[in-house]
Amino acid sequence: MLQTCGKEMPRSRPFETARPMQALIAQPTEAFAGTARVPGDKSISHRALLLGGLALGETRIEGLLEGEDVLRSAAAMRALGAEAARADDGKWIVAGRGLGGLVEPTEVLDLGNSGTGARLLIGLIAGHPISATLTGDRSLCSRPMGRVARPLEQMGARIVGRGGDRLPLTVIGSAEPLPIRYELPVASAQVKSAVLLAGLSAPGRTSVVEPAPTRDHSEIMLRHFGAEVAVEPGERPSTRVVTLTGQPELKGQRIEVPADPSSAAFPAVAALLLPGSELRLSAVCINPHRTGLYQSLREMGAEIGFEDERRLGGEAVADLVVRAGPLEAIEVPAERAPAMIDEYPILAVAAAAAKGRTVMHGLGELRVKESDRLAAIARGLAACGVEVEEGPDSLAVNGCAGRPPGGNDRPLATALDHRIAMSFLVLGLAAERPVTIDDGGPIDTSFPGFAALMAGLGARIAPAGGEGAPA
Ligand code: S3P
Repeated sequence: MLQTCGKEMPRSRPFETARPMQALIAQPTEAFAGTARVPGDKSISHRALLLGGLALGETRIEGLLEGEDVLRSAAAMRALGAEAARADDGKWIVAGRGLGGLVEPTEVLDLGNSGTGARLLIGLIAGHPISATLTGDRSLCSRPMGRVARPLEQMGARIVGRGGDRLPLTVIGSAEPLPIRYELPVASAQVKSAVLLAGLSAPGRTSVVEPAPTRDHSEIMLRHFGAEVAVEPGERPSTRVVTLTGQPELKGQRIEVPADPSSAAFPAVAALLLPGSELRLSAVCINPHRTGLYQSLREMGAEIGFEDERRLGGEAVADLVVRAGPLEAIEVPAERAPAMIDEYPILAVAAAAAKGRTVMHGLGELRVKESDRLAAIARGLAACGVEVEEGPDSLAVNGCAGRPPGGNDRPLATALDHRIAMSFLVLGLAAERPVTIDDGGPIDTSFPGFAALMAGLGARIAPAGGEGAPA
């Protein structure tokens, strides 16, 4: 039985069994080289399933991320009446219900670890005359949901549950949602997307005002499915207004999901830090709202090329070519946070091997990710012998100008956070002594096959205490 907010909830297959912790050890590694394709983009994969389920006709998805987070969204869409299954050729086929056609699920929708799945589905359900109860694992049940509930209530949905801010929650959708203009209090693509998904069923225009531009995969994919979405600068500097015209006719599409730049970040940083490395990562999404990490690394002196730039279903894509080299500390401005919100753990690892003190600003949102990432990064770096200073919404890392010490006494607590797990494994490859983490299981949420892909490039990652681990 999965841990679900300390309660036993009815569970849908295939997630019924408890998952044992999987401690992993990363050994200092010399050579790291080759060519690889990391799994499909997580944000685009969720959106492909949700919009495919809403469209009329068939959607064929190539390169869907088959990580646990996305599989939960597929299961939720099936519970809402759409068909979503993997074909023999590896493509996913979604038979949509048509806008307004979702049916009331008979079971609780368990989104596991996935904030994106939960928040986007809450928006989708809010625009349908159905009710559904959503829950998740211990991490997801501790994350704020009021940020999606508030605008959706203005549109006419009711969201019932512990103060409306935490899962489990029941969403009572509206038969006739109202179009609204909503100013986001935080720059969040998930909240923007939830409002737009509910706005699909509303007559007239639904607008979301962003305090700063966030990833625009929903806008790109909504247009791809036939909706009208306008994007204009807002009244205040750096704000942006996204306006959707409601009740479009969405038609099934073909979608090719590019590789996830947030997953590519782990082998890319490993290649930068391990002398002599050269790595090519194919077909990575280089949407400018996702490339803040690569911009920061280049400012640190990294050699990262985007080759063969092209478009896949409206998204910019390139092959990433990365060569090892020394890095210098930089100051990362707060304005860059939305474009690299998931990449601070791995940037902190790069900073630990750089020369000088790297300071990152505007990190408040990291406290409400899969774990309190700011605290987890600071704790992990300190345990690996790196000097670090954690502020309320900032982080300073004193780099070691080469291999950080590593060799943590006790396995690092990854707190159900896949990106903390992968970041500290990369630190172990680039450290003087091995790094162990308490649980690599959550890696499957976004990067199934991580250890095998990294091993294929030369990394030494193995079960702690098992084969390949030191005596
Ligand atoms: C995501 C948006 C970001 C990001 C998350 C995926 C999305 O969250 O951290 O991993 O797909 O819309 P916020 O919208 O909360 O910033």
